[in-house]
Amino acid sequence: MKIIKATLSILFVFLFLSNSIIYAEDQMEKGIVKLPKPILKGTVSVEETIEKRRSVRRYSKKDITLKEVSQLLWAAQGITGGSGLRAAPSAGATYPLEVYVVKKDGIFHYSPQDHGLRLIVQGDKREKLKDACWGQGFVAQAPLDIVISAVYDRVTSRYGERGIRYTDIEVGHAAENVHLQAVALGLDSVPVGAFKDDEVSTLLGLSKEEKPIYIIPVGYGE
Ligand SMILES: Cc1cc2nc3c(=O)[nH]c(=O)nc-3n(C[C@H](O)[C@H](O)[C@H](O)COP(=O)(O)O)c2cc1C
Repeated sequence: MKIIKATLSILFVFLFLSNSIIYAEDQMEKGIVKLPKPILKGTVSVEETIEKRRSVRRYSKKDITLKEVSQLLWAAQGITGGSGLRAAPSAGATYPLEVYVVKKDGIFHYSPQDHGLRLIVQGDKREKLKDACWGQGFVAQAPLDIVISAVYDRVTSRYGERGIRYTDIEVGHAAENVHLQAVALGLDSVPVGAFKDDEVSTLLGLSKEEKPIYIIPVGYGE
């Protein structure tokens, strides 16, 4: 009886471990953590999200799920159409925006093509991001901060100086998508434009061509 019990335990541990390995491989491809598929039908109307959206600056300790992260990033820059067309409009489909998330396990870059996250910096950097935002406390309190940056040259190389305006307009589109998607998920958010560009760039390891434009803390309001 003891031998049968021991064999069953070993078998159980083996099955558990092999399942974990399969799961881990399934989640991780080319160094990218795959995000859950976005949901395309919600329970809240767009009118309700517009009406309910408010800038919230106090967040509870409740963490945000990977499903919610997935949905917010899809709303910002997810692929929604053929030829790689994205959730937010872009002048000439030049797509100058890059999206990052800062959460307790690290800083990640969002890949729209893979709908996945690539780790940039390990560890909780929200306090550092808060410092870069002139000490706005809710940046560190929120379980998630979304940072939208822009590579202006992708647009100005086609449209000249006007491309600067086009890029800034596009950031607004992507950010509003995030704010409204947050409301639809029962989450809260706030736009943050007051931050030290150079400190955010250093934290995210951005090249000099890429500028941080907009930060969006997201979480469950208190
Ligand atoms: C471009 C922009 C930058 C902003 N920057 C900040 C910021 O750094 N910190 C902050 O607490 N709120 C910021 N806000 C939020 C505004 O204060 C807020 O939208 C305004 O008070 C109206 O409130 P509502 O968003 O609840 O409608 C910003 C808003 C915009 C549009």
